[in-house]
Amino acid sequence: MALRHFLSLLDLSPAELQTVIDRAIEMKAEHYARRDQQQFPGHVLGMIFDKASTRTRVSFEAGMAQLGGHAMFLAPTDTQLGRGEPVEDSARVISSMVDIVMIRTFGHDIIERFAAHSSVPVINALTDSFHPCQLLADIQTWQEHRGSIAGKVVTWVGDGNNMCQSYINAARQFDFELRVACPPGFEPDAELVAANASRVSVGNDPHAAAKGADLVVTDVWASMGQESEQDERAEQFTGFQVNRELMDLAAPDALYMHCLPAHRGEEISAELMDAPDTVIWQEAENRLHAQKALMEFLLLAHQSDA
Ligand code: CP
Ligand code: NVA
Repeated sequence: MALRHFLSLLDLSPAELQTVIDRAIEMKAEHYARRDQQQFPGHVLGMIFDKASTRTRVSFEAGMAQLGGHAMFLAPTDTQLGRGEPVEDSARVISSMVDIVMIRTFGHDIIERFAAHSSVPVINALTDSFHPCQLLADIQTWQEHRGSIAGKVVTWVGDGNNMCQSYINAARQFDFELRVACPPGFEPDAELVAANASRVSVGNDPHAAAKGADLVVTDVWASMGQESEQDERAEQFTGFQVNRELMDLAAPDALYMHCLPAHRGEEISAELMDAPDTVIWQEAENRLHAQKALMEFLLLAHQSDA
């Protein structure tokens, strides 16, 4: 079988995604019991970050250590990539020395070009277009609390950004209905929406979209790289806050999620962020478990390929 990457949720089949999430739940229990299996001694994860991160860096680095391997943090300020060495050349060289690579960058084409020239699996740790690792953690969190997400109604409130677009792919792969509510002009990619029209609808009314929803999800109004638009967006996104009033329209046992970092009082109220029963902190922690399961899946697939 060809080398496997995880550049979007579509790179794994629905059955494979479910296997990874089930395994993440199993690995979480093993970790809590201090029975991490350290199944990849001597393996190295290269971590290329062109953008800031807390959760992604900590979860991948801790996760690789718990798998018995080592993780190497590569920032553009310290590598030749940051000085203009071509992505393709960097991919050849880096992948000749490590066992698996994760990349957080801007354009999705950068990670596609890297993967095309890599001899080891490449994981998308966020691009301007997609953030599939976060979706593994979100679906794991849903499953831990509510079981299968198939057939449920998920509402996205806010920017049609990389997280929103990953939810569109998730609706397809995990078979749920997704209602997106964005301010006019901030909708997700029209082609992606059209390709998933049987499960995804897009509008501009968060109240209508939240009605009866099982899960409500939001994210920052200005993503990394859009910092200069923050103030303007704050005005344009007025009315798109996930708060108690909005959650009162959702199903009585509805959950809400946020990938973090969050801006309390903007896209989500402080009340919801600080509610004792929020699953947001478990959602963040599950990045660790989900990515360990993902790395195990990709490393084993690569080994069996060799
Ligand atoms: N959710 C997420 O990816 O967080 P970081 O930007 O801190 O990695
Ligand atoms: N949409 C956000 C997600 C951060 C994890 C961003 O791209 O900055």
